[in-house]
Amino acid sequence: MNLYERIPNNVNLSEDKKLQRALEKWLPNYLDWWQEMGPNGFQTKDVYLRTAISVEPDGWANFDYVKMPDYRWGIFLKPAALGATIGFGDNLGQPAYQEVPGEFRNSLRRIIVTQGDTEPASVEQQRELGKTCPSLYDLRNLFQVNVEEGRHLWAMVYLLQRYFGRDGRDEADALLERRSGNPDKPRILEAFNQPCDDWLNFFCFTMFTDRDGKYQLSALAESGFEPLARTCQFMLTEEAHHMFVGDTGINRVVKRTAQLMKEGDPRELGGIPLDIIQKHINFWFSYSLDLFGGEISSNSADFFAAGLKGRYKEQEQYEDHLVAEQNFTMKVVEDGQVKEREVPMRNALNEVLRGEYVRDCEKGLARWNKTLTEAGLSDRLYLPNPRFHRHVGEYAPHAFDNQGNLITAEEFEGRKSEWLPSLEDREYVRRLMQPVTEPGKIAGWIAPPASGVKGKPFEFKYVRL
Ligand SMILES: [Fe+2]
Ligand SMILES: [Fe+2]
Repeated sequence: MNLYERIPNNVNLSEDKKLQRALEKWLPNYLDWWQEMGPNGFQTKDVYLRTAISVEPDGWANFDYVKMPDYRWGIFLKPAALGATIGFGDNLGQPAYQEVPGEFRNSLRRIIVTQGDTEPASVEQQRELGKTCPSLYDLRNLFQVNVEEGRHLWAMVYLLQRYFGRDGRDEADALLERRSGNPDKPRILEAFNQPCDDWLNFFCFTMFTDRDGKYQLSALAESGFEPLARTCQFMLTEEAHHMFVGDTGINRVVKRTAQLMKEGDPRELGGIPLDIIQKHINFWFSYSLDLFGGEISSNSADFFAAGLKGRYKEQEQYEDHLVAEQNFTMKVVEDGQVKEREVPMRNALNEVLRGEYVRDCEKGLARWNKTLTEAGLSDRLYLPNPRFHRHVGEYAPHAFDNQGNLITAEEFEGRKSEWLPSLEDREYVRRLMQPVTEPGKIAGWIAPPASGVKGKPFEFKYVRL
């Protein structure tokens, strides 16, 4: 096999011997990790997958049957634009960094490692889901998400190995050593250590947690460190599908529940009651909010000043890319009360990005509520207040109800099972998770999708078992 066959790429890998050696050493470790921590079972099965084989419009979405270990993991960056400049911060307008500037080396490495760590983590979290798939269509979507997260790991490892020398190679190895949920060597961010062991969790994860990824990648897609920007731009094209899986997945659960509610009690009819769906929304939304970091952050100011991490659609949405004099008003807890405080905008950029994310999530809620309306029901799903159930930032030391009112820790404990999935809720959902693998058939707790994949019908044999 030639090099391109083994590692498809558009980064001139054959001319960079040092990088080639590093990647070829990493590749077998990656495949070991995939076998050990990737989807449990199914590794020898043909899956109807989309594979990126180039970054040309006709090349990045090739559909065919592939065995997952043979998926063409590769390194694809959006082609470089000539004369790229830094689009924001103190070095606005200067040539984009093509190599890592020494003074930002640690910050950049930290950004890339933190992003990179989420990719294998999610594969680990979803490892057992194949065994309880509601349909072959869903099973295929799960595996599509998994292989693409694997490739996103490749993308970040490329940056580490190509641009960070020895410590970059060590970090690339460490990305294969941490394990989601393992108390001794956990993944870096908490949302990626939470179990995702049933399909309701999976859909919430891809809706809410992958959507955090969209905003983080977007903020990096305009980075002044050009190789990072180009990597993230390409990853975003794949991320859209992951969010689609979550958004439509929850919508199909809601649709099925609504049907059952008209026949009786969904709990007695093998459906997932709306209150359990709501609690899962609350759980994953709040954990995903944490991923944006503290409300008031000196890191966010430093990253912006350095031109490393911008805002969502920095060029399209904003005119002032310096942001030197603006302020931002946010809610903080002071003297036991929620009060407003003004902070320099650069220190509030995590919160600004989080706000964009919340507005995007609200659109999902509107779609699901439309499904309830169309079913003739007056019940509604909602997003909890962003202060609710937080583990990072201003609100983490305090307890809030789902409306964002300060309450005592005791009251939160007492009412927790109203808002978050209880053990019984999780058990109930788990009992519903019986595999359905006959083409065209679907589990009783979820509606079939509106259409299949790439023009194929729902009945198509998406995975050959
Ligand atoms: Fe990803
Ligand atoms: Fe993703």
